[in-house]
Amino acid sequence: MDKLVIEGGVRLKGEVTVSGAKNAVLPILAATLLTDEHCVIKGVPNLRDTNTMLKILRSLGKNAELNKGKVNIAANKHTNHVADYKLVSTMRASFCVLGPLLAKLKKAKVSLPGGCVIGIRPVDLHIKGIKSLGATINIESGYVLAHAAQLKGSHIYLGGVYGSSVLATDNVMMAATLARGETVIESAACEPEVADLANFLIQMGAKIKGHGTPIIEIEGVKQLHGAEHTIIPDRIEAGTLMIAALITKGDILIKNVMFQHLGALIDKLEEAGVSISITDSAIRVCYKRRLRSINVTTLPYPGFPTDMQAQVMSLMAITRGISVITEKIYPDRFMHVAELNRMGAHIQREGPHAIVEGIKQLSAAPVMASDLRASACLVLAGLVAKGVTTVSRIYHLERGYENIEKKLQGLGAKIWREKE
Ligand code: EPU
Repeated sequence: MDKLVIEGGVRLKGEVTVSGAKNAVLPILAATLLTDEHCVIKGVPNLRDTNTMLKILRSLGKNAELNKGKVNIAANKHTNHVADYKLVSTMRASFCVLGPLLAKLKKAKVSLPGGCVIGIRPVDLHIKGIKSLGATINIESGYVLAHAAQLKGSHIYLGGVYGSSVLATDNVMMAATLARGETVIESAACEPEVADLANFLIQMGAKIKGHGTPIIEIEGVKQLHGAEHTIIPDRIEAGTLMIAALITKGDILIKNVMFQHLGALIDKLEEAGVSISITDSAIRVCYKRRLRSINVTTLPYPGFPTDMQAQVMSLMAITRGISVITEKIYPDRFMHVAELNRMGAHIQREGPHAIVEGIKQLSAAPVMASDLRASACLVLAGLVAKGVTTVSRIYHLERGYENIEKKLQGLGAKIWREKE
């Protein structure tokens, strides 16, 4: 297992290019199960999670390879409908093979993914949506067994106690593309990654309207064909790099960005006193003056993303004043609080809130990554802490940030990888 070693205190400067979005590529790869024809996906980040999804596709009978940012999925008739526990349990996004397998093969057996460190993470909305399309579903020995000779379009309300669900919307939308008649998903997730999936499905011949809004309408078609698609840029990687510029008092030009996807973050950073320059596909973040503390509440898109909560907390940890960070998507996603406090931060957790009292300087410490975004938050803290920080268990980081230490090195950071 590798760890990252970071010598803090360097102002990051220069240009960096954002990779394709992890949370778009995973369901898009799953969507290729809806056809027997050749598909090409471009702008694919080489991540642990991408490779897990490719392994799942191969286990289901697809021939899928990633080469230099491009995935080729060869034309073939896949027939395996069983997604195994060993693979699904390592990554929740694998559960979104349920919809495409069921729609294409009329049956699916997909392991339940289980919880993870950021919370219980149920799949009731996925099941509710797929059932509404007329499938029979049983849960046996940790697997969801689904079958339906012909899925039928339906009107589905998909909101849950925490609002809409990204992967449940993806799963139901994919299943509905091959259902008979019209499906309306109400309280659909509006995340750009859901819209990117819908755009890929449309390229495959699906009839979808309203993606990117809370009401998605899908007119089922008989079959889908092969397609080519380029993945949207990763807004969370872009946001993480924006915080890297600010926390190190640096100046970074971040390329391959869709600023439209970063509205809530840009708004909050402007409230903190940051001026951000935006061009067509790049954002420049330059630290000019001392920041103000801000309060942040995570919400479904277009609200402030839960996937940026930990990173903004590391910035607030060294920003004068009190900041209240409220987590409304995963109320337990606070594993990074204790680690930041080990670096000298003053953060107190109270239920779904973290109260951050900004201090002048963090001090380096050995810290442990617990999940993907918590790892990013600890790397950010390490970039600015006094001394040498080590972040262990960085396989979490490898799930979602392509070449992150190389990208940071390119901006001048003193960061390297060592064996634990
Ligand atoms: N929820 C339910 N029932 C369900 C599904 C979800 O109650 O059937 C709840 C969840 O427990 C949570 C809320 O609804 O409280 C929202 O969860 P959602 O289903 O939207 O999350 P997800 O689809 O499993 C995706 C991303 C996450 C990101 C969330 C929220 C992928 C592969 N994952 O997860 O990304 O945090 O949406 O935006 O798209 C990450 O990249 O670090 C990450 C965790």
